[in-house]
Amino acid sequence: MRKYVLPVLAGLSACIFACTAPAVPVGNNAKQWWKEAVIYQLYPRSFQDSDGDGVGDLRGITRRLDYLKALGIDAIWLNPICASPNDDNGYDISDYTAIMKEMGTMADFDTMLAGMKKRGIRLIMDLVINHSSDEHRWFRESRSSRNNPYRDYYHWWPAEKGKPPYRYSIFDEEGNAWRYDSLTNSYYLHYFSRKQPDLNWENPKLRQEMYTIMKFWLDKGVSGFRLDAFPFMAKDTSWPVMPKDWTNEQYVRYYGKDPKVHQYLNEMYTEVLSKYDAYTVGEGGVIAFKDVMDYVNEDRKEINTLYHDEIANAWGRDSFDVGEYKIDRRNVTGIKKIVSKWDDKFSTKGWNTVFFTNHDQSRAVSRFGNDSPAYREASAKMLYTFLLTQRATPYIYNGDEIGMTNIRFTRVEEYNDLQTRNRYYMALKESKEKAAAYLLSQAELSRDNSRTPMQWDSTATAGFTTGTPWLPVNNNKATVNVAASEKDKNAILQYVRRLIALRRAYKDVLVYGKYQLHDAENKAIYAYTRSDGQHTFLVLLNFTSGQGNTPIPAGYQLGEELLNNLQPLHQNGGTIQLQPYQALVIRLK
Ligand code: GLC
Repeated sequence: MRKYVLPVLAGLSACIFACTAPAVPVGNNAKQWWKEAVIYQLYPRSFQDSDGDGVGDLRGITRRLDYLKALGIDAIWLNPICASPNDDNGYDISDYTAIMKEMGTMADFDTMLAGMKKRGIRLIMDLVINHSSDEHRWFRESRSSRNNPYRDYYHWWPAEKGKPPYRYSIFDEEGNAWRYDSLTNSYYLHYFSRKQPDLNWENPKLRQEMYTIMKFWLDKGVSGFRLDAFPFMAKDTSWPVMPKDWTNEQYVRYYGKDPKVHQYLNEMYTEVLSKYDAYTVGEGGVIAFKDVMDYVNEDRKEINTLYHDEIANAWGRDSFDVGEYKIDRRNVTGIKKIVSKWDDKFSTKGWNTVFFTNHDQSRAVSRFGNDSPAYREASAKMLYTFLLTQRATPYIYNGDEIGMTNIRFTRVEEYNDLQTRNRYYMALKESKEKAAAYLLSQAELSRDNSRTPMQWDSTATAGFTTGTPWLPVNNNKATVNVAASEKDKNAILQYVRRLIALRRAYKDVLVYGKYQLHDAENKAIYAYTRSDGQHTFLVLLNFTSGQGNTPIPAGYQLGEELLNNLQPLHQNGGTIQLQPYQALVIRLK
C-alpha cells in the first residue's frame, strides 16, 4: 500500500472563442483546433510577479504575453487562479467565480484574457470539481448543522454510526480521509487535505452549481477546462470496506471507477459543454488503459481528452537510483511500448495528449533527460523533439522551454508542498531511515522541483519578482534564463520555437499523420515515422548518453533534414549514427 502518489496519479469580450459553434462529437480524423493546438501549461504562482509580493499574478502574465506569442503556442492551461486560502496552492477553492487575492482582480483577468485573444491564444481554466476549500461558503454552511440546506453538498458520516469505513487520504497527515468535526458530531470526507472536503456529486443542486460556474467562465470567453482529479467525484456511497493494505489496482477500483462518473460527465456535456466550442482535458491518472475510451469516445458525449501519466511514471520509476526508484535509464524500449500502445488506442476514435511534466511532477530534463552541464541542452531538445512530433495534443510546462532543472532541496523545511511535507512526517513515524530515504527521493520527484519561479534573467530573483519569491529561485538562473536564451541562436528556447513552427507548417503529417515505430528493440534509439500519405518524416531520438545506430527504414532514402539538435548527421550506408541525446527530423523519399 501507500504506493499511490499524486504526481504518479499521479482551465475579450464574451464569446470570442467560446460561444461560436456547438461542439459536435466527431471521429478521429476530423480536424479540431484542440487537436492542432500546442498547449502551454502556466503555473501562475511562479510565472511573473508584478506587485512585489513574491507570488506570480495575472498582471505579470499579461506582461509576458508577447513572449508566449513568440513561442508559437496556441493555448494556455492556467492552474487555479480562483479565491483560495492556498493550502494546496489554489486547488482548495473558496470562491469559484472570484480571483485569488494574490493573483489580482477580475479586471486583471479581463485584461489578461483580452490580451490573449488579441494574440490568438486561447485560455483553458483549471476546474477543481472533486473538492472545495473548507473555507468555501458551502462548507461553512454544511458543517454548521445537520439540517443546513448545504449539508448534502459534502459527504458526512454521523459519529453515532461508529467510525466511518477506512478511506485513504492522499494529503492527510495521518493518511485518513475522514475528519471528525465536533460541531455536528460527524466525520467529513477529504480524499486530499483536511482543508479540501470532497463535494457530493450525487446532489443535483451541487451539480447545477458547478455547471453555473462553468458557464460563468465560458461566457467570459475561456475555451475550456482541465478537469482536476475528476474520476474521484463519483463515489460508491454505500462505502464498501476497503482493505488497509490496498494494492494500486484496488485503489483504482475504490477511487476512480464508479460508473456514476459517466452520468455526471454526460450531463455536464449536455447542460454546458455542448453549447460552446469548448475543449476538455481530464486528469485521468487513475483510469485504467482499457477504460479510457469510455470517457473520450466522441459518441459518448463526455470529454474530449484525458491525460495519462504512464510515460511520466515509467520514466520516474525506471530512471533513478534513489530508494525504490531503481532500474535503468539506458533502455528506451519500455517507453516505446507505452507510447505506441496509446497511439494505437486512438487510431480511429478519441484523441491523445502527451506531456513530460506538469506542476505535479519534477522537471522534464532532470527526470527524463540529463541535466548535467554537458547534456542539458541536447537532452532537453531531444525530449521536445519527441513531444512535438507525436499524434497527440502536446503540453509544454512553463520553464521547460528554457531547460529549467530540479532544485533538489535537501531539508524538509525547504519544501512548500504539503504532499512532500506530510509524507515525510508520516515516514518519520515509522523510522528515521524511511524518512531519510523519502527525502532523498523527493530531491528528484517532489512537485516543488517544477514549481520554482520562472527564470527570466540572471538577476538575484531571476526577474520573477522585486520581492522575496514564495519558493527559492534555482541557482542556475545565471545561465538558464530567458534573456540569455533570446541571445543564443542555439538555445533550447529557439529550438522549441522551430519545432512548434514545423508542427504548424506540417499539420497533416505531424498532427494527424500516421505514427509507425521502427527498430523497436533498439535500447538507445527511439525511431518512428509520421506520414500523411504524401510526406513521410523520420524522427530519430537518442535517449542515452552513449552513441547509437539505427537503420534507415527499408525502402526509403534520406531527404531534407528538417531539424537536428546536434550537427552533423552521420550516415554510413544504410545506417545513421547518433551522438548522445541527438534528435533528428528528416524527410524520407
Ligand atoms: C490534482 C492537481 C494537484 C492537486 C490535486 C488536488 O492532482 O494536479 O496539484 O494537488 O489534484 O486538487
